[in-house]
Amino acid sequence: MSVIIKTAKEIEKMRVAGRLAGEVLQMIRSHVKAGVTTGELDRICHDYIVNTQKAIPAPLNYHGFPKSICTSVNHQVCHGIPGDKILKNGDIVNIDITVIKDEFHGDTSKMFMIGEPNIRSSRVSKIAHECLVIGIEQVKPGTRLGDIGYAIQQHAESSHCSVVREYCGHGIGRGFHEEPQVLHYGKPGTGIQLEAGMTFTIEPMINAGKRHVKLLNDNWTVVTKDHSPSAQWEHTLLVTDDGYEVLTQCPGDEI
Ligand code: MF3
Ligand code: CO
Ligand code: CO
Repeated sequence: MSVIIKTAKEIEKMRVAGRLAGEVLQMIRSHVKAGVTTGELDRICHDYIVNTQKAIPAPLNYHGFPKSICTSVNHQVCHGIPGDKILKNGDIVNIDITVIKDEFHGDTSKMFMIGEPNIRSSRVSKIAHECLVIGIEQVKPGTRLGDIGYAIQQHAESSHCSVVREYCGHGIGRGFHEEPQVLHYGKPGTGIQLEAGMTFTIEPMINAGKRHVKLLNDNWTVVTKDHSPSAQWEHTLLVTDDGYEVLTQCPGDEI
């Protein structure tokens, strides 16, 4: 097994899948407010992906995952299962969207604020976004994966936050999770070198407290051990001849 370099035709399909994933985040924005349940957000996204986009929500039935999107609230780190949880003023929630269109995947997530979250929650969300941007800015042919991880870890830890180690970014294409694993921590000058035509995600999970996590009994939801708030942002990227292209740009957002 190794890293799949995409052809021009495949890259075109990745652009389409990525754009659709970004558009789901754009669409759901107006629905993410106090009083809505995460299950309702899942239903709205599912209907939009299936009926409007004529695409497939990749999480549904993926290794048995029961819903079409992931919703991770406050101290939930990732892979939260949508359900009866009602969003309330002060919550932060990550919504993670992966769609399959014409056999190719687009994977992106972002944080939403409900009302006015406290400083700790809003700050970890801001730092996590900065970590994503700093990671993306490393992407060009010749960069090593360790350079990306190092840049992200430096920013998180110098901001007195921590990087979750157990989950990482990933190659993506016909497969949801392809090689390589893209760690959000590491040492400069280590790991494989990026080449034009690679497509992968960067999706740092950053905790306001300690980095340690645990898995809930539902076997999916990952939470911080110390119950500190956690935040994650994700994009699917293409390595170009001289840098990167963000394939999952959310319309109206800057990265
Ligand atoms: N979208 C997640 C990622 O970024 C994976 C979710 S897998 C699921 O890799 F099964 F929980 F949906
Ligand atoms: Co991903
Ligand atoms: Co994702």
